[in-house]
Amino acid sequence: MHADSTPKPVALVTGASSGIGEAIARRFAEGGFRIVAVARRQERLEQLAASLDTDVEILAADVTAADTADRAVQLAMDAFGRLDCLVNNAGSGKWAPVDQTDDQTLDEVVETSLKAPFRFARAALRVMQSGASVINVGSTFGIRGGAGGGAYCVVKSGLIGLTQSIAADYGFQGIRSNIVCPGVIKTAMTQDFWEAPFFQRLNHEMTPMDREGTVEDVANTVYFLATVPGSYINGQTIALDGGWTTTKTLTVEAMTCERVPQG
Ligand SMILES: NC(=O)c1ccc[n+]([C@@H]2O[C@H](COP(=O)([O-])OP(=O)(O)OC[C@H]3O[C@@H](n4cnc5c(N)ncnc54)[C@H](OP(=O)(O)O)[C@@H]3O)[C@@H](O)[C@H]2O)c1
Repeated sequence: MHADSTPKPVALVTGASSGIGEAIARRFAEGGFRIVAVARRQERLEQLAASLDTDVEILAADVTAADTADRAVQLAMDAFGRLDCLVNNAGSGKWAPVDQTDDQTLDEVVETSLKAPFRFARAALRVMQSGASVINVGSTFGIRGGAGGGAYCVVKSGLIGLTQSIAADYGFQGIRSNIVCPGVIKTAMTQDFWEAPFFQRLNHEMTPMDREGTVEDVANTVYFLATVPGSYINGQTIALDGGWTTTKTLTVEAMTCERVPQG
């Protein structure tokens, strides 16, 4: 029997050093992709690379630097000669209501979670061929107004615009774009929430499924969207939240809470 000579596809994942991005890199590696992993923490990227059974290139860099996107895509092309999927996952979890958001925070969130994904998409689209796709990692806070979301809501809904714009312009070339919008998933970014009993109860009572979402739920959906089973899905916003954004489900305990309209 001859060995399969088809070149392995390549996925570039930003924010691959932890949480959702790490799970996405693992899922693509399991699916036979070669990986370009980007994040600031080199040691974490090296640990990831050592644990994956595929070819991995790492780029330890801040995605907000103007040249990081071009460097990452060039790395994919130099090392592997192709780019089949870009996953724009790196993001900054800074939440505050609008009136409590200073310029520094606003700039940081926009730079990390909107300008950087735009630059990565721009660099990727210049080299991608038919069959490739861009997957953005948004949030339920980009679909519905999340209380206290502020700049985070703004950038995550901006990513929906980026997704639809790419779908419209590049679908004709066979290049797709979709966005996944997780609810609250247990990672370093949300650790403080999960430690608060109030939040655990709130999340449970507002989610019409009896389990928490996981990083693997997100990774499996991103992988599905990027590969053949998802190959006619283009420009779509997929919430991964157990139904939270589409329902008004509350448990009896929550519906009978003591907070009632005044006046
Ligand atoms: N967890 C949730 O509940 C949830 C829900 C909805 C959406 N999301 C989105 O999912 C994505 C991943 O978040 P997560 O929950 O997995 O959090 P996480 O574990 O804190 O991971 C964030 C990742 O982004 C990278 N990153 C952040 N700023 C960066 C920068 N300036 N340059 C390069 N890399 C940077 C981090 O790497 P380094 O620190 O090594 O640079 C890390 O790999 C984010 O876009 C987030 O908004 C998360």
